[in-house]
Amino acid sequence: MAFTHYTVKKIIHGSGSIKQAPKEVKNLGGSRVLIVMDPGLAKLGVQKPLEDALTEGGVAWELFAKAELEPSMDSIQACADAAAAFKADVLIGFGGGSALDTTKAASVLLSNEGPIDRYFGTNLVPNPTLPKILIPTTAGTGSEMTNISVLADTKNGGKKGVVSEYMYAEVVLLDAALTVGLPPRVTAMTGVDAFVHAMESYCGIAATPITDALNLAAMKLVGANIRQAFANGSNLAARDAMLYGSALAGMGFGNTQNGIIHAIGTTLPVECHIPHGLAMSICSPFSVGFNYIANPEKYAIVADILRGDDRTGVLSVLERAADVEPAFRALLRDLDIKTGLKNYGVKREDLPASADRAFAAKRLLDNNPRKASRDQILALLEANYEE
Ligand SMILES: [Fe+2]
Repeated sequence: MAFTHYTVKKIIHGSGSIKQAPKEVKNLGGSRVLIVMDPGLAKLGVQKPLEDALTEGGVAWELFAKAELEPSMDSIQACADAAAAFKADVLIGFGGGSALDTTKAASVLLSNEGPIDRYFGTNLVPNPTLPKILIPTTAGTGSEMTNISVLADTKNGGKKGVVSEYMYAEVVLLDAALTVGLPPRVTAMTGVDAFVHAMESYCGIAATPITDALNLAAMKLVGANIRQAFANGSNLAARDAMLYGSALAGMGFGNTQNGIIHAIGTTLPVECHIPHGLAMSICSPFSVGFNYIANPEKYAIVADILRGDDRTGVLSVLERAADVEPAFRALLRDLDIKTGLKNYGVKREDLPASADRAFAAKRLLDNNPRKASRDQILALLEANYEE
């Protein structure tokens, strides 16, 4: 069987690497940049080092601080219109997953006819996009490394993805100094999301030796540093490791898929407004408890990474794998994250509809190592409702 592994073209990394931004803009043939951010982050001024570097490097820039948390189709058009009005020749996405997804989708509309929903699906974008540099300021989504932009389908409801080879960033810039201001709670939730990406990709059906290498490294980096980054946000070594971990996980799961944790966690009732990383945290322990018998060799390794220990030869493979649920719960306790859907406003009577939606997330469940029926998913939700 033949496999294809895609990845971004160029990665500039290391603390302080933000200073390389103007050089990279020029390498791409650009001189006018639209910086794409969400308004909350822009208000904090985290982008100042980028703006200063661009100005010093002689690159003209304008800030578009209207990226939405769950990007709507209109917000993508607004971003593309702002770039066209400024005559931008390079986009820089700066921030969390939604700012980066907005940048990727807007880059499509600058060289392809809109509206953006024409391209919902896989490889439907006909022309190469405007060049983009992606700079993450959270260690979590790994969106800087993937070719998908997840948007709100404002016509038909739900979320849809634009997936295209052209959406890979021309340049990714990883500078952990930009992440030191992230509050502990956000650090914990987004960090768990990064670990889950690597774990679901590593243990899933579509894993390859290439994604295994990326995901193993990602889990080790996140597993060994997430507590430290949560406990002390200015621990730059921990922040550095988390950013590498998140990016490596993005390079892994972007080539496979996620699994049951994302299937359940992304289909919890929308009205509860549970942030993505928190939903992943809530759904992880019971999901790995369900999954581990399908791939004990790999879950044994995951459990060891979570424990920061190598118990090969001390415990059997199955004993180590069975520890993955308690090991995950221990991590969440250290990060002050409560499980139990009841704690987050989910009503017991909503669980059957949640199970229906999760079961319909075929793209994700197809990669899950253990086959899950709708009734098994409902039973997991019921059993973990109150904790
Ligand atoms: Fe995720």
